[in-house]
Amino acid sequence: MGRITVLISGSGSNLQSLIDAQAQKELGEGQITCVISSSKKAYGLQRAEMANIPTKVCSLYPFVKDVPKSDEVGRQKCRVQFEEELARQVLEQKPDLVVCAGWLLILGPHFLSKLRGIPIINLHPALPGAFDGTTHAIEMAWQKAQDTGNSLTAGCMVHYVIEEVDRGEPLIIKELEIRPGQETLEQYEQRVHEAEHVAIVEATVKVLKKR
Ligand code: GRF
Repeated sequence: MGRITVLISGSGSNLQSLIDAQAQKELGEGQITCVISSSKKAYGLQRAEMANIPTKVCSLYPFVKDVPKSDEVGRQKCRVQFEEELARQVLEQKPDLVVCAGWLLILGPHFLSKLRGIPIINLHPALPGAFDGTTHAIEMAWQKAQDTGNSLTAGCMVHYVIEEVDRGEPLIIKELEIRPGQETLEQYEQRVHEAEHVAIVEATVKVLKKR
């Protein structure tokens, strides 16, 4: 069996695609054994519960709440503690693969060093090298096409997670053409999400097959 831990932060529509793929036997030996959310309010937690998948919450807030933002050293220490707790929760699951499906926090070096040897993949709503490290990649791509008046090839990808944010080797790339004036931002967003839902499943299957 390929034990999959999924990290989420929000609505969990990409998690839902994985749950549906598992139900359709598209994940082969892969099985989602735990969903960990960075927010206790994430709707994705309910999706997991509805599919009888165990859930956990690991949020940054309790670690940083008593340390002012101006205390950079203090904040850094909290961040390390958070990463250690997240790594502990993930390792407890003995995963063969960790999938970040709408996980919004950066996975820093402390977390990554503890998970060495376990593949971690992440969904990013932009192409390799485009709009790294931002949560506004969809709007930025759409706006760029409108501002320049030229068609732009944008899209989404799933890549391996390395220390440099959004820079790991891409596994699946979905290109989408943005034609200025042809669609609203909401329509483009919709297209990105549809592509993401396919990409996350394809990338998960691809990594599981490599094992
Ligand atoms: C996706 O667009 C992902 O690329 C972005 O956050 C969104 C997550 O959506 N980083 P969901 O929680 O899977 O519905």
